Amino acid sequence: MPKLHLNTDLFFLLKDQDIILWDYKNHQQFTLSLAYFERLVTHSRGNVEELNEIDQSLLNEGILLSEAPPVPIWQWDKLSYIFHIGTRNVVEDSHETIEDWVAQYVSDCETAVQIMPPKMLIRREGAFSSLPTPDLSYLNQHSFLDILKGRQTIRNFNGSPVSREILSTLLFVTFGLFHGPWAELSDAGLREVGMRKTSASGGGLHPNEAYVSIHNVEGVKPGIYHYDVERHALVLINDAINDDNISALCMGQPFGRGIAFGVFLVAYFGKIWWKYPHSRGYRVVLLDAGHLSQTFQLVASSLGVLTWMTANIHDVNVSSLLKLEGVHQSPLHFLGTGYGEKSGIYSGVKDYFK
Ligand SMILES: Cc1cc2nc3c(=O)[nH]c(=O)nc-3n(C[C@H](O)[C@H](O)[C@H](O)COP(=O)(O)O)c2cc1C
Repeated sequence: MPKLHLNTDLFFLLKDQDIILWDYKNHQQFTLSLAYFERLVTHSRGNVEELNEIDQSLLNEGILLSEAPPVPIWQWDKLSYIFHIGTRNVVEDSHETIEDWVAQYVSDCETAVQIMPPKMLIRREGAFSSLPTPDLSYLNQHSFLDILKGRQTIRNFNGSPVSREILSTLLFVTFGLFHGPWAELSDAGLREVGMRKTSASGGGLHPNEAYVSIHNVEGVKPGIYHYDVERHALVLINDAINDDNISALCMGQPFGRGIAFGVFLVAYFGKIWWKYPHSRGYRVVLLDAGHLSQTFQLVASSLGVLTWMTANIHDVNVSSLLKLEGVHQSPLHFLGTGYGEKSGIYSGVKDYFK
């Protein structure tokens, strides 16, 4: 009897009383009868003595394999592997000409506009504080070369206040409607589906929102705010938090102590999954957050304020602090800002080695 091997890129899901077999590598799903499921269990235990009809159909579908699947080089656990393999593009583009491709592209765009949410700019309920007009002349003070050279992560903030103008300019230039309406689209008679900001974003959809934790900004009451892009304003969401809270939310890291303010980047998956319905869209959200983070740091560098960042945050506690609606709104990254010693090595670590 030829030895058969179980495809290792599978998981099972119990859903609506069905047993779903998900082949995440080949993007296929099957509903299994109990007999098929039991047969796979038998195979996985190596107890098969004779092949039967079920084996043949499992072989045809690539669930059983005649050759052992290669063992991947992968040091993380299965969870990341499933996401990684399951979100790869595996089917090649089938358009025969560029004209075909363009026609499909236009048709996809036409379909997308019909299902796009009516409002892409998020507005939270709460007390509203306006921000001063951003002062873009601040960005002209240093050469681009100096700004790039000046960007670095620091871990020794000193609690000094930042001005409201700097807060306003940093938020506007990184997250605001910096370019105004997307004239290139409207001039061509096309509908503005997305937004153009200082960072690129998949489809211009900008799924990440900015939530600001104000600690010491002149003229702004400490608290947790949502940055309202449309109105360039802050909307109060929660009470102020202190250095101990920031450390706890950043998984004990003390590096954010003494910041003047910080920004939680929060992914709103609903802003993007209507257009990019496959899980691959999750990658786009993460990449978008990286673009914003880099722009934030460069703008901060040009404004002379220092930054520290972390992706190691307590997702659940940050979500409740920001009063997010559910798992479809997810904090990804924290950007702390202020003044201090321009050193990436935390004073406590230096002391440790003294
Ligand atoms: C996605 C991402 C996550 C990061 N997470 C942390 C973190 O959890 N804690 C921390 O102290 N720094 C964190 N950093 C900052 C890096 O440690 C820092 O960028 C790196 O040491 C290089 O230093 P530089 O930013 O000064 O070039 C993170 C940076 C990025 C881009």
